[in-house]
Amino acid sequence: MADIQLEKIVKDFGAVRAIHGVDLDVEDGEFVAFVGPSGCGKSTMLRMIAGLEEISDGTLRIGGRVVNDVEPRGRDVAMVFQDYALYPHMTIAENIGFGLKMRGFRPDDIRTKVAEAARILQIDALLERRPGQLSGGQRQRVAMGRAITRQPSVFLFDEPLSNLDAKLRVEMRTQIKRLHAMLGTTTVYVTHDQTEAMTLADRVVVLRDGHIVQEGHPIELYERPNSRFVGEFIGSPQMNVFEAVVDRAGGAPRLRIGDASIEVGEVPLADGANVDVGIRPEHLRWSQGSGMLSPRVEVYEPLGSDTMAICDLDGRELTARLDPSVRLKADQRIPLDFEPANLHFFDRDSGARIAAA
Ligand SMILES: Nc1ncnc2c1ncn2[C@@H]1O[C@H](COP(=O)(O)OP(=O)(O)O)[C@@H](O)[C@H]1O
Ligand SMILES: [Mg+2]
Repeated sequence: MADIQLEKIVKDFGAVRAIHGVDLDVEDGEFVAFVGPSGCGKSTMLRMIAGLEEISDGTLRIGGRVVNDVEPRGRDVAMVFQDYALYPHMTIAENIGFGLKMRGFRPDDIRTKVAEAARILQIDALLERRPGQLSGGQRQRVAMGRAITRQPSVFLFDEPLSNLDAKLRVEMRTQIKRLHAMLGTTTVYVTHDQTEAMTLADRVVVLRDGHIVQEGHPIELYERPNSRFVGEFIGSPQMNVFEAVVDRAGGAPRLRIGDASIEVGEVPLADGANVDVGIRPEHLRWSQGSGMLSPRVEVYEPLGSDTMAICDLDGRELTARLDPSVRLKADQRIPLDFEPANLHFFDRDSGARIAAA
């Protein structure tokens, strides 16, 4: 077990700076997810922790020890990748135990550790098979088995579920969460999938262009995104964001969004202010009256648990997650309400959250 401390970590690839001085403490036993769009530096961060990529500047500590110049094998970390290269000619048991064998463990020791990992991952029945005889999800479990048998202080995962189909991905997600609950090993998990990050991690770190934009508990990021970027990145379906103008002319503040003018209670904005205003699809509901907004339905998706309405609001797309009992028709105008408290305000230029006073 170990904590990880990143202090002003920088990575340059030649003249190009990929990571711009990242500070982060991962506590002993914590599960932290790095999330962000492709190319934001997630893999680079993870590879620097693993020792597979040189650190250009800053200090990396694992378990209190500075490891900048320590070889991967000396860092006591185990990494699981998207491409879990297994040895095709070896049995599953041999694949899982291979690392131990290379490090000179005795055969009966290896057998015990392999059996233990297989039990945890529920692949006991597969040990005598070869990788070619397993499904993608089973192969991914074998790759995790390999990591477990090493009993590392830190697990590092780089998009381990990206090659699996949707159903397996959800199953393996649960498996990884269970594994962490059982072993309590410090884990850094990289994914571009915000749902995966939110469901797995104690703390989510959002990266953009080699910077940390925001970090926190998944619900904190969902409820109080510090920027339009995080607001749109976290949550599914994506937050709706519209240009709006604040109108205080009539006394009570109103927001003009397209043709609509909506009374919104107190807002931290001056008359005439141009802002981006965000509302999540699940915070829109069918109105009993004429509705604060009345968009036109373009496409709807009856999912059983809820119905997504993808609408047009004066030329802008708006998605609403509605109760499944509503019966929609394409081209129909629907009356929607929301609680003003569920609005998010972002600066039009910087994208920064505008906080209530
Ligand atoms: N070996 C490399 N040489 C040059 N540039 C690299 C190399 N590896 C990554 N990069 C660049 O660093 C940035 C971050 O890449 P990466 O960490 O792979 O992103 P992510 O994993 O978030 O998709 C990208 O702009 C990428 O092109
Ligand atoms: Mg990557």
